[in-house]
Amino acid sequence: MKPKVFITRRIPDNGIKMLREHFEVEIWEDEHEIPREVLLEKVRNVDALVTMLSEKIDAEVFDAASRLRIVANYAVGYDNIDIEEATKRGIYVTNTPDVLTNATADFAWTLLLATARRLVEADSFVRSGEWKRRGVAWHPLMYLGHDVYGKTIGIVGFGRIGQAIARRAKGFGMRILYNARSRKPEVEKELGAEFRPLEELLKESDFVLLAVPLTKETYHMINEERLRLMKPTAILVNIARGKVVDTKALIKALEEGWIAGAGLDVFEEEPYYNEELFSLKNVVLAPHIGSATYGAREGMAELVARNLIAFKNGEIPPTLVNR
Ligand code: DGY
Repeated sequence: MKPKVFITRRIPDNGIKMLREHFEVEIWEDEHEIPREVLLEKVRNVDALVTMLSEKIDAEVFDAASRLRIVANYAVGYDNIDIEEATKRGIYVTNTPDVLTNATADFAWTLLLATARRLVEADSFVRSGEWKRRGVAWHPLMYLGHDVYGKTIGIVGFGRIGQAIARRAKGFGMRILYNARSRKPEVEKELGAEFRPLEELLKESDFVLLAVPLTKETYHMINEERLRLMKPTAILVNIARGKVVDTKALIKALEEGWIAGAGLDVFEEEPYYNEELFSLKNVVLAPHIGSATYGAREGMAELVARNLIAFKNGEIPPTLVNR
């Protein structure tokens, strides 16, 4: 008899196809998040679970799932899972690193450039007919933005994605600063990146890119005090997790001009709605789509399947988190 896996959202077919060869597969087909009580019911008889970053996988889920041996998170971040609790119960947890690194770094740059050059404002100026109504074909002072080439980028969190963002920054002739829990001498050498304590990085950077995992230490790491350290011409880009930034403080910073703008792919609650933030012109917003390319999402599906198949074959899953 094949072991059972429950997948909490439809993922790309390549992963499902691989899984069907080894598992009895059940999928939650609704595009909305699975209601908690349904999840607790569905996990009762499964050996494996594929979860999304929007689901809290904690002791309550593990209590309901007496047969569960492995949780494969369809994300590189796994702050949605109580790892300590899983480990205590001998449940494996896996994630999807590497396969989404380039897509996410590209998107960090998409937000950086779109915010610096006011792309969304300019797009709606053209699309709304305002440009035609105004009747000004070209003006030397129209939609001026911030220079990027040759400026200083400060990357907070210098793992795979942070480093991929830095590699792209080299092509823009930028000075690269980074902050991380530990120094990365090889990357410093390769990219000429310079380590800075967080406060100094915030003071010196023209662009601050957040690429840290969400942990107790990084929760509201960017708060009022730290936002006040940034340059009034600086732009903050968050592709990490919404809770790394204190949103109330960020809105104040944007309204009062302590910083020039923000590009946000992640929010403190998702889905997110906040009229005060959305009324600001100097923000570019996206609905958590950093890794949303066909290639990355298929890579994630394949890696989820490879982890589960390895587990089924009695091997150590390739991207096990709680080793
Ligand atoms: C992740 O993988 O953690 C991203 O936030 C979504 O791909």
